[in-house]
Amino acid sequence: MGSLKGKVATPKGVDGEVEWQMELFPECKAPSSKGMFITFEGGEGTGKSTQLKLLSEYLLSLKINNIQTKEPGGTEVGQELRRLLVTGDKDKFDAVAEALLYYADRRVHLTTKVWPTLNNGIWVLSDRFADSTVAYQYYGYDKRVDKQLLDELYKIAVGDFKPDLTIVLDLDPKVGLERSFKKAMGMETKETRHESRGLKFHTNLRKGYLEMAKQEPERFVVLDANKSIERLHIDIVQVVKERFKL
Ligand SMILES: Nc1ncnc2c1ncn2[C@@H]1O[C@H](COP(=O)(O)OP(=O)(O)OP(=O)(O)O)[C@@H](O)[C@H]1O
Ligand SMILES: [Mg+2]
Repeated sequence: MGSLKGKVATPKGVDGEVEWQMELFPECKAPSSKGMFITFEGGEGTGKSTQLKLLSEYLLSLKINNIQTKEPGGTEVGQELRRLLVTGDKDKFDAVAEALLYYADRRVHLTTKVWPTLNNGIWVLSDRFADSTVAYQYYGYDKRVDKQLLDELYKIAVGDFKPDLTIVLDLDPKVGLERSFKKAMGMETKETRHESRGLKFHTNLRKGYLEMAKQEPERFVVLDANKSIERLHIDIVQVVKERFKL
């Protein structure tokens, strides 16, 4: 039995922070009957974390239990990997080593948090997932990493499991990076390793997300993120309501 903490809607309202016990998934397999898995993707500073929190609150208002999580760093082990991955020199490892570290984080995240949670009928909202690895390690680096390698890693670590919905927040990287650097100024640990890669990398990244979305239109929705927080939230609610018939 493992213990996961999260906000769940309670009969008294939606403010309760409740801890619940759940069996960790011993066979490490994706669940079959489950809550929905929604991932937020996009470049730096596009509003993923802001919008994920707002969507979580919206779902709670409908009494849909959900947790907010992220990659990298959605678990205790992941926090250590996150520190390695998002701080420090941008060239401290090559893109293959990076992809392996991201997949180590992802596997721990899935087996100890995402899958057990979904298996309990609780929705999971994740700030980034596997599309980020393809966007950053493949498209961002101008395809220097073999796409087949990333596909194989996915198969090994994730299998057939995939998000029920992936929301890509699309924004001019100049605007996003400016927001990100402004945010980082107030942070004690500067999570700016990727931000420091330059505009070409981030432009590739944006194109990569659009290409992935085109290849899998049934899973992806691309939203224009160049609008106010409130307006974008309304767009996201509309997408989620339609997709899940809420
Ligand atoms: N629509 C918006 N308009 C203007 N500012 C915004 C908007 N959405 C978010 N911000 C601000 O921009 C900054 C980055 O937003 P947020 O952290 O949600 O983005 P993110 O995509 O999670 O970024 P990162 O990739 O760095 O994690 C924050 O300071 C946030 O308050
Ligand atoms: Mg964020």
